[in-house]
Parts: sequence; structure tokens; C-alpha cells
Amino acid sequence: MIAVFGAGSIGCWVGGRLAAGGADVTLIGRARVMDELRDGLRVTDLDGFDAKVKVATATTPDAAMGAAIVIVTVKSAGTAEVAAALDAVLPENAVVLSLQNGVRNADVLRAALPAQKVLAGMVPFNVVRRGPGEYHRGSAGTLMIEASPDAEPFVTAARAATLPVESRGDMAAVQWAKLVLNLNNAINALSGQPLAIELAQRDYRRCLAAAQREALGVLSAANTPIARLTAIPPRWMPRLLAVPDRLFRRLAARVVAIDPHARSSMWDDLEARRPTEIDYIQGEVVALAEKLGRDAPVNRALVGLIRAAEAGGRRNYSAAELRAAIGA
Ligand SMILES: NC(=O)c1ccc[n+]([C@@H]2O[C@H](COP(=O)([O-])OP(=O)(O)OC[C@H]3O[C@@H](n4cnc5c(N)ncnc54)[C@H](OP(=O)(O)O)[C@@H]3O)[C@@H](O)[C@H]2O)c1
Repeated sequence: MIAVFGAGSIGCWVGGRLAAGGADVTLIGRARVMDELRDGLRVTDLDGFDAKVKVATATTPDAAMGAAIVIVTVKSAGTAEVAAALDAVLPENAVVLSLQNGVRNADVLRAALPAQKVLAGMVPFNVVRRGPGEYHRGSAGTLMIEASPDAEPFVTAARAATLPVESRGDMAAVQWAKLVLNLNNAINALSGQPLAIELAQRDYRRCLAAAQREALGVLSAANTPIARLTAIPPRWMPRLLAVPDRLFRRLAARVVAIDPHARSSMWDDLEARRPTEIDYIQGEVVALAEKLGRDAPVNRALVGLIRAAEAGGRRNYSAAELRAAIGA
């Protein structure tokens, strides 16, 4: 059995996709989310995949006992609580896989679960809840997980489900590379627009380019390697983002496919009045810069704007307004 702890967008989609491939999956999550799965879980994607599956659901951590692997899919702020809950129920040597954004979740789990095996993972694509019990993958990419024999139950289930997964020996570099791409989450949330509309506007892309350039500078100063996750190497990305709209449209079509409705999960969080993961994305760049005695003013400004939006403030910046507000 594969358990998914904290099943929301990513957990329901990945769990549903594995179940559609024949895996025995138990989703553990909030009652409001699990109740919607009573008549089945529908998983779809932008390539036309569409399946409705029956999955076991639970709302308490003990349902993870006996799992061949426990996939953690809560937002970063919830990781410590989940780690403590798993510590109370998992046997020694149980395997836990973090499929979360950010660069520190696997370490938080490892610290609380010293007798278990914790693996880091990375989800490159975007998933949204389309309606009760319906989850949709709106962009493309291959799941990446830490290379380890302990990952075998997940890799086998993913292969059976034709869900692309790659084992990596450089997960820290993969996670930092994803973080650099995720710098757009805040910009998207502050634009109030779907990703495709936001990224079609040069001034929003200039905001992202400035945030990425700054992050890449900090990472380089810290001698932190970053992996290449897209057709374009990370260090070329800011230059690509800043080209005129017509040229960008032609180039981007070859780099990444985005569903017209997809938005960042940070937009979802603001919409639902939940705290965002800003501390675990832009906040990591600011913290690393501070550790090096440097400043990261663009990312710091984005942290400030998202904080204000979390408190009910503005989140409909035009591209030019956002550029001015963050000094990009
Ligand atoms: N969505 C995407 O497109 C996407 C793409 C790539 C990576 N990611 C990353 O994947 C992770 C999960 O994101 P998501 O969008 O799937 O988040 P999500 O939709 O909020 O799902 C997490 C779910 O876990 C629940 N939860 C939290 N603590 C729990 C606990 N102790 N017991 C049971 N359930 C608990 C949450 O409920 P409450 O809301 O009540 O806390 C929520 O329903 C994040 O790190 C995110 O950055 C997301």
C-alpha cells in the first residue's frame, strides 16, 4: 500500500494517477477533501488523460502504518506537524518521500524521523482542483526523486501508471532549480492572472527575470549548484524572459506547455485566505543572501508584497506596477 499524507492538489493527483495504474493507494487528508472522494477521484491532464478511480481515504495518521512508502504532500508550513504525527505511527525503516516544493522539507522530516528513511522528491508540474474530487495537471514535466533502493515501491507504481519519474543523485541541485522556477509563483499570485496570460506580458517576465537573476547570483556566491530542469539552462532563463512578447511566444512554445487556466498554487492560497509558501521560496533566497552578508532586494520586496496580500492587501498588480513596486 502507498499512503499519501496531506492529500490536496498534488497528493490527490499523484495518488489518483498511481491508483489508475493499479497501485493500492490510501489518501490521508482533511475530512473536507476526503469527503469529496466518496464517489471516486477523477484525475485528468493537459495531454488528455482522464480516469476516475476508487481510492481508500482516511483522516488520521494511523492509516499510514504498514505503507510500503508514505508520500508527504502538505504545504511546507505543515511538514513539522506531519513529521511528528508520522513519528508516532511509523515503524523503524519505513520509507517517507517528500513531494513538496522548497529546499528544506526532507530535512525537517529527517530530523523528526531518524529511524526511518526519508527521500526528497520534486514535482515539476502544476495541479489544480477543478471541482469536487477532480484534479487536473495543467503543465508538463517528469517527477524527480532521490536515487535510492528505498524508492522502489514508488518507482514501480509510477512505471505501472506510465507516470514519468527520474531518479536523481543531485536532489539538492534539483530542488534549488525548482525554487528558482517557483519564484514566479509570487509574481503570478500578485498579477491575479492565469499563468499563460501573466507570462505573455514582458513586464511580468522582467519581474521574474530580476528575481531569478538575483537568486542565481546568491546561489553562485554560496557555491550552491543548480540542476538544469528545462530545455534552457537556468542561467539563460532571465535573458529569455526579457525578450519582446512575440519572440517569447515562439521560444516558450518549445520550452514549456501551459494549460490556459493554470495558475500558481500561491494564487490559490491567497484566494482561499491561507498562508502561502513565500518563506520557503523567495524567503530562502533572502535568507541565503543574509547568511552571505548580501542583500536580495527584489525577492525581499516580493516577500513583503505577498505578506501584505496574505493580510488582505492588494493582489492585482499590473505588470508595470509590479515592476515598479519591486524595483525590477
Ligand atoms: N499544486 C501544485 O500545482 C504544486 C506543484 C508542485 C509542487 N507543489 C508543492 O506540493 C506541496 C503540496 O501542495 P498542494 O498544492 O498539493 O497543497 P494543498 O492542496 O494545500 O494540499 C495539502 C493538503 O494537506 C492538508 N493537510 C495539512 N496538514 C495536514 C495534516 N496534519 N493532516 C492531514 N492533512 C493535512 C491540507 O489541509 P489544510 O489546508 O486544512 O491545512 C491540504 O488539504 C507544496 O509544497 C507545494 O508547493 C504544488
